[in-house]
Amino acid sequence: MQPNQLSPGGLGGLGYVGIEAPDPLAWRRFATEVCGLEPALIPPGPRAGGVPVPNTSGPEHAGVAADGSVFLKMDRRQWRLAVHPGQTQGLAYLGFELLLESDLEAAMESISKRGVAIRSGTSEELEARSVGNLAVFEDPAGHRLELFCRPIVDEPLCSDRGVEFLTGALGMGHVVLYVAEIDPALDFYRDVLGFKRTDYMQFGPDGMGIHFLRCTRRHHSLALLQVGPPSGLQHLMLESTTLDGVGKTLDRALAAGVEISSSLGRHRNDKTVSFYMKGPSGFDIEIGWDGLLVDDDWVEHEFAGGGDDWGHQGLDAESLKPAE
Ligand SMILES: [Fe+2]
Repeated sequence: MQPNQLSPGGLGGLGYVGIEAPDPLAWRRFATEVCGLEPALIPPGPRAGGVPVPNTSGPEHAGVAADGSVFLKMDRRQWRLAVHPGQTQGLAYLGFELLLESDLEAAMESISKRGVAIRSGTSEELEARSVGNLAVFEDPAGHRLELFCRPIVDEPLCSDRGVEFLTGALGMGHVVLYVAEIDPALDFYRDVLGFKRTDYMQFGPDGMGIHFLRCTRRHHSLALLQVGPPSGLQHLMLESTTLDGVGKTLDRALAAGVEISSSLGRHRNDKTVSFYMKGPSGFDIEIGWDGLLVDDDWVEHEFAGGGDDWGHQGLDAESLKPAE
C-alpha cells in the first residue's frame, strides 16, 4: 500500500485506545475474563533511569497503575487498552501509530498548517503512554487524538482464554466514532490525516450513513457515523486470529451474563464474522475474525441494500443511535 500523505512512512493503524470509566476494575474483569486480554505486565508510569518499573504489589493490582488506571495487553505491546478512573463514561483518546519517528515533526507541521492545534506530548504523557514520542490534537468532533511512535513492547500475550488477536501492521482493531457533522470529520480524516475511504453505506431518511476509513491494509481502522449531535465511541472491534476465538468469547460472554447487542453474523463490506456485546461503559465491543484486507487497486464504492451477508440480528439503524 502507498504510504498516506501525512508522512513518507505512513500510519501504522490504531495503536491504543484510552477510555474513562467510574470503575476500571470492572473493566479489567470484563476485558480479561470475557475478551481474553491480559493485565499489562508493567503498568505505564514514571520510569526509573528510563526503564518501566514493575508492579510488585500483588495480583489484585495486576495491570493497575498508581492512579487507579487499568492497562490491558493483547499482544507484545506493553498495553493496548487503558481504562482511567473518571466520572464520565467513554472515549478519552485514540492513539494512531506513526511508523517512523523521523516523520513526526513533518506530520505535526502538516496538521498545524491545516489550522489544527497540535502540540508535543509532555514527558509525563510519554511515560503514561509507554511511547518514545507523541503529538496531541483533536478531530473536529472533539475526540482527542494522539500520533505516537516507538511504543514499548514486552512479552507476547499469554491468555488462557483461547484467543489470540490479529494486530501487527494492521493495528489493534477498529473503532466507530459518532460525529455531529460528517463532512468536516471526513475532510479531516482524509485530507489532513491521509485516511482513505474504503466504502460507505447510507441508511435512514436524513443522510444517516457510515463511512469506513483505512490507513493500513485493514478494511477500516476507523468508521464515522453521523446520527445526530453526539460524539463519542460507538464500538471497538478486536479481531481474533481464529473463528474458534470468536465462538469461545461468545460462550464466555453468555456465561457471564453480558448483554449481546448483535448475534453472530458476517458483514457484507469487510466480510468480518463477528458478534457485538455491551461493554461496561455502554459502548459495544465487537469480536471478529476474517476481516478483509485491502490492496492498492481497491476502488472506493457505496454499498446499498443492507450491511450483512447473514446474521447480526440486532444491528440496525435503530441500534446505531447513541444511548440517551
Ligand atoms: Fe465494527
